[in-house]
Amino acid sequence: MTVVCLPGDGVGPEVMQEARRALEALAPDLELEERVFGAQAIRETGDSLPDETLEACLAAEAVLKAPIGDPEFDAAEVRPEQGMLRLRAELDVYANLRPAHSESVDLLIVRELVGGLYFGARGVRDDGTVFDTMEYHPRQVERIARRALDLARSRRKGLLSVDKANVLETSRMWRRVVNEVAGEYDDVEVEHMLVDNAAMQLASVPERFDVLVTENLFGDILSDLAAAVTGGLGLAPSASLSDSGPGIFEPVHGSAPDIAGRSVANPTAMLRSTALMLEHGLGRPEEAGRLEQAVERAIASAPTRDLGGHATTSEFGDAVLRALS
Ligand code: NAD
Ligand code: IPM
Ligand code: MN
Repeated sequence: MTVVCLPGDGVGPEVMQEARRALEALAPDLELEERVFGAQAIRETGDSLPDETLEACLAAEAVLKAPIGDPEFDAAEVRPEQGMLRLRAELDVYANLRPAHSESVDLLIVRELVGGLYFGARGVRDDGTVFDTMEYHPRQVERIARRALDLARSRRKGLLSVDKANVLETSRMWRRVVNEVAGEYDDVEVEHMLVDNAAMQLASVPERFDVLVTENLFGDILSDLAAAVTGGLGLAPSASLSDSGPGIFEPVHGSAPDIAGRSVANPTAMLRSTALMLEHGLGRPEEAGRLEQAVERAIASAPTRDLGGHATTSEFGDAVLRALS
């Protein structure tokens, strides 16, 4: 089994290093191939997703990705984030699973990842107006609804669809299609909520949530919020899945340029994404469980600075390796 590792930018290489060490200990049979991606790839090749990297990803069993992004390119014509959206679209990983849990919270955000405001028509009109548009085809809503309903069925059987149906046409269609697909799932309780209210309730009563399904940008924002109320961005993993073909497994957080290069980043989100890869990407739930438990133990024994501790990124990784052995 081949896994393509994309170490990315900022804290990316620091957290990827710990994921690789854990994988080498846990699943030594995996073939880990590293490829350049993001700001680093723009510097080396002029393109954030070089052809060679894309081909390796398409041919792999799974893609393990660290965050990309660099302030140097924020205003540039060619930006790291463009390669990231292209990679998601090329692999058609439309279902982005973003779990968040703490003592009292256990929720899962299912974010539509290859449509909506990120992929709609955009441009500049003659009068200087700049536009991005939210576009969805009912088929795109149907497949993410089905995925979320299946996930809800495997959990506490509640699904909350989050939209802005009081304003947006796309949201009214989204609601209708979710209800249609839900008709095939008698055992799942489906509700709808407007996104502004969902944000308020996530901040104040996060323990009420089970599975949420939502549009691309809403899911982006709500998943940072869910991370914040369950221990912080340093803990939040994600899995991006298609119907067949390799998934992408990456932290919810970005390249954290404010702390990069100082070995203070928490590698938990990267390690938990690695566990999601073992489970959902490679069909190895036993090793995924072992890694999750080892990470839990490291959080208790060697917390990083964001958790109120003093462990460096690699000291946290050492604690994970000790817990695995
Ligand atoms: P960010 O997620 O990088 O950082 C937000 C805050 O959280 C910062 O204070 C950072 O120090 C902290 N943080 C993030 N990860 C942490 C970790 N593992 N341990 C401890 N603290 C952590 O968001 P940003 O600053 O808005 O974005 C920086 C860059 O990252 C941008 O270029 C953005 O486009 C990119 N980005 C990439 C991804 C990705 O590749 N998946 C995701 C989000 C943002
Ligand atoms: C994420 C990130 C990306 C997104 C950016 C970097 C394009 O914020 O994975 O959450 O918005 O999807
Ligand atoms: Mn985000």
